Amino acid sequence: MTRQYLITAALPYANGYLHLGHIAGAYLPADLYARYLRLAGEQVLFVCGSDEHGVAITIRAEQEGKTPQEIVDHYHAANREAFDQFGISFDVYGRTSSPLHHRVAQEWFLDFYRRGLLEERQQLQFYDEQAGMFLPDRYVEGTCPNCGYERARGDQCEQCGAYYDQLALKNPRSLVSGKPPALRPTTHWYFRLSQFQHALEEYIASHQDEWKENVLQQARAWLKQGLQDRAVTRDLRWGVPVPLPNTEGKVLYVWFEALLGYISATQGWACEQGDSDRWQQWWLQSSDRQTYYAAFIGKDNIVFHTLMFPAMLMARGGYILPSNVPAHEFLNLEGQKFSKSRNWSIDLRDALADFPHPHHRDALRYALAMNFPETRDADFTWGDFQARTNNELAAIVGNYANRVIAFIARHFEGKVPVLSEQDREFPARWHAVVANSSGGSSALDAEQFSAEERAMIAALARGAEAIATAYRSFRFRDATSETMNLARAANKFFNDAAPWKSLAENPAQCARTLYTCVQVLRSIAIALAPVAPHLSRSIQQLCGIAQPTTGEFSGATPGPNVWATIPQPLIEQGTLLGQPQRLIEPISDERIALQRAKLGAPAAQLAPHRERISIEEFSRIELRTGRIVSAERVPKSNKLIKLIVNLGSEERQIVAGIGKHYTPDELIGLDVVVVANLAPAQLMGVESNGMLLAANNGERLVIVSPRDEIPPGSVVR
Ligand code: MF3
Ligand code: ZN
Repeated sequence: MTRQYLITAALPYANGYLHLGHIAGAYLPADLYARYLRLAGEQVLFVCGSDEHGVAITIRAEQEGKTPQEIVDHYHAANREAFDQFGISFDVYGRTSSPLHHRVAQEWFLDFYRRGLLEERQQLQFYDEQAGMFLPDRYVEGTCPNCGYERARGDQCEQCGAYYDQLALKNPRSLVSGKPPALRPTTHWYFRLSQFQHALEEYIASHQDEWKENVLQQARAWLKQGLQDRAVTRDLRWGVPVPLPNTEGKVLYVWFEALLGYISATQGWACEQGDSDRWQQWWLQSSDRQTYYAAFIGKDNIVFHTLMFPAMLMARGGYILPSNVPAHEFLNLEGQKFSKSRNWSIDLRDALADFPHPHHRDALRYALAMNFPETRDADFTWGDFQARTNNELAAIVGNYANRVIAFIARHFEGKVPVLSEQDREFPARWHAVVANSSGGSSALDAEQFSAEERAMIAALARGAEAIATAYRSFRFRDATSETMNLARAANKFFNDAAPWKSLAENPAQCARTLYTCVQVLRSIAIALAPVAPHLSRSIQQLCGIAQPTTGEFSGATPGPNVWATIPQPLIEQGTLLGQPQRLIEPISDERIALQRAKLGAPAAQLAPHRERISIEEFSRIELRTGRIVSAERVPKSNKLIKLIVNLGSEERQIVAGIGKHYTPDELIGLDVVVVANLAPAQLMGVESNGMLLAANNGERLVIVSPRDEIPPGSVVR
């Protein structure tokens, strides 16, 4: 029986940039899981994509004056690229506005329709008479029927997570006109979710020993209330059209079709692989295949993935169901909830731009993983990120790598030490011990291994095992901290074995120590690969490995079980190693202060970019440096300052609108950049013969000034 792992991560809405809360909620844990399993030689398919329908997107399109398609095209590409740079190793990243997805979703709807699983109902729906439209869920607000929260949305309450029918909302208000909406009849199709009550109860109960408590609790609470049939269509234009006659203006409810996005994305992947039926291997039950399906989500998606989606899969028949839904709780940021509107947020793309080094990006992965909200809400702080980067990743892992590589560069010509005659059997004995006992220290014979070696090899064997168990049981914080413990053990080995002493006293011993250190360095690199793939790759390269593995090969073909080799010595004697280098630059206090200052600050209103011009067009502008020789206010103006600027060959009079931001005194002697060939102009009756460059930082004008000493009149290009 072949075993395989299907991994999905909630499809993010393509209506905005992802923030670190999203990343810690679903995508990074899913990636750690996928990479670990691939390294362990398992067959894995890791599926995600953009959720491109729903009202959130039409609202964003209205705000930005664009079409919904333009919006999703932009955010789909941006999110996909950010995931990629962050090392999230999806095998496929689909999108729900694709024709393929539309076809799949319509096919499911029609199948349910024909088999009597959908019920057509005439119903009343909120209608905004002033705006002349039916109100989709996000356009109404009211009091939650479950918890009484007063700003609950039309279909789901942010406060308590309740998921209900729009008409259940109390005291509804239209968000379009602000008025209480009217009720108008419309036709919708209801999925008979209530028919699955019993089957879902059994399904949830069958996982009660395995799933997280928070997930089970939410699912049980819903079942206890009794499942209601759910409308799976909406009166909207943007979405998958209802595939029935005379249904103009109606689309499938976004949740109904988005969940099917996992399946359509897999179909897209199969087509790309040149075998369009191959998706079935991943989604259909079969007697000769066992698929473990892990659906990674944030906690706001629990009901859809534990009840709605399983019911849909049961209804269709022959499909596998999620084996686990390892939902995370929420991540907070510096003690407060993430909030885009208050700018209390960190977009992944900004973090990537501010920390462009791949090893710093890994440091962010590491800091997030150490703070995953696995069992309760957790907090990300920039201070913690800095400490974990500098005091853990750099000071423990980076330091160990550098000590080993630098020592070997100095004393062994940069090559893995060749063992002495008396140690010829050392690698074979090491292999044997690991193979026989998975390194249980009892098997480590005191005659053949020193106390330090016994401790080190046992730590590798036990660590690899413990980390694997943690990954397989979705305890990613534990997996990550155990990984760091391996690097701690390695530093201890280096200290205890003290090769700088044996170097002169016992060169054979020194060679054996450094030989061991290189093996351990490789082991650490493999163990680190799920959480820090870029760093892992660099360390493997330092170890002379030409083709590093970081858990990225695709589900098409499982690779070898590299994880099992963690306790083994696999680097040959004499292998040429890389150059000593600092793998992780420490992160300065200034960079952290800068990040903190961004939080909660009003976003700078950036002007949109202009049309591109050619270099010839640009070269028509004469820019020169100048030095201000005198400055005085223009009478009766609080804005204008009259300047005399030395341009090298001449002195120019320039009137600048900087009077609110600078005093004449502080301007005298300042070096500036001047547009020298601007046509003259009169400002309040004073002639101006050029212009200074200045930028607005959101509060005030800041004059552009050359950083280093430069003669007036120098050409700026
Ligand atoms: N777009 C939804 C969200 O971000 C998640 C959709 S998961 C899917 O909350 F499975 F429905 F796609
Ligand atoms: Zn509520």
